[in-house]
Amino acid sequence: MRILSDQKFEINHAFEVVHDDDMVSWFRSAVTKPGAPGYDTNRYFLWCTFSVLAPYRRRGIARSHLPVLLELMDRDGCRTVTMESEEESGHAFMRWLGAEKKLEGAENRLHIPDVDWAMMQRWIDEGAKGSPETNLEVYDDHIPDALLEEFAPQLSALLNTMPWDDLDHGDIVETPEFLRHEYERMDLAGQRHHTVLTREPNGVISGITDMNWAPHRPKILEQMFTGVRPDSRGRGIGKWIKATCSTACTGSTPTRSGSRPGTPTPTGRCWRSTRGWASSGTAGAPSIRSAATSWPSGWRFWSKRSVRAARFARAASRR
Ligand SMILES: CC(C)(COP(=O)(O)OP(=O)(O)OC[C@H]1O[C@@H](n2cnc3c(N)ncnc32)[C@H](O)[C@@H]1OP(=O)(O)O)[C@@H](O)C(=O)NCCC(=O)NCCS
Repeated sequence: MRILSDQKFEINHAFEVVHDDDMVSWFRSAVTKPGAPGYDTNRYFLWCTFSVLAPYRRRGIARSHLPVLLELMDRDGCRTVTMESEEESGHAFMRWLGAEKKLEGAENRLHIPDVDWAMMQRWIDEGAKGSPETNLEVYDDHIPDALLEEFAPQLSALLNTMPWDDLDHGDIVETPEFLRHEYERMDLAGQRHHTVLTREPNGVISGITDMNWAPHRPKILEQMFTGVRPDSRGRGIGKWIKATCSTACTGSTPTRSGSRPGTPTPTGRCWRSTRGWASSGTAGAPSIRSAATSWPSGWRFWSKRSVRAARFARAASRR
């Protein structure tokens, strides 16, 4: 079964394998659309993921997706496929496919009632004290439209400082149009967005963090991006913006209406991958002492179309 979806900047495909009305497997892929921001450096990369319901595994269902994968790569002129998995079965499957492990990450979760709010307040105070010339800006919504022209390139610059291990990748290019589209999608999903940034006296944005909350997952706050410019690191800006944003978010979700702003929800939690809340020792991100829990790590694999074509074709046809 083929499912169609129309995204503004990506070509997406979705397929499902159905058995007796049950969806036993799904397949999703994404590639940058011609003309989209960053198309020139991202056009050769196809991202894909698929999953098979546990009782239906080891019957060749995932293998049966491979001809579709090859067709999509050829159709859009992609040379490299990137896949990711947090499960050993997925890692084994990708090794079987001949893909190479290129990036490893962990998702860290923080139980909000365990947050040391006195420490957060210290981070806020010390951040302001350590950078007296720097302004803190708090947006309890998306970044206002009038600011997007100057915000988008500065966000792109910060996003492109993220570590990628050995993963080949294109540039991240955020534009006002792209951000408006993202915000529209967040609004459609009922998400509440909070952004905190720091601005230097010369107008340069030195740090950005954003989080979102949605009514369909009321106990989870999602940490989105956090980045501090390399020339502004080591001044406590990461801790300053994260503590400010966490305080703003936990004080504003409807689940907490009636409680004192700044007090965490009794059962709330916050989660994020390697790029956000980090267990101690990760450069550029603050650690939330004792409260951060690491989930099993996710690995990203990639495989070159040119190198793997014969292997893919053999794998797809073997029963
Ligand atoms: C990974 C996954 C999609 C494989 O689905 P599947 O239908 O069982 O895979 P297939 O039957 O087509 O397996 C093809 C080959 O992959 C390898 N493989 C698949 N699962 C494996 C496992 N658990 N352990 C070792 N090898 C495995 C085998 O070599 C297998 O061939 P064989 O059965 O002839 O030995 C499935 O286990 C899954 O949904 N895992 C969780 C989601 C996930 O990690 N997805 C990652 C893909 S992006």
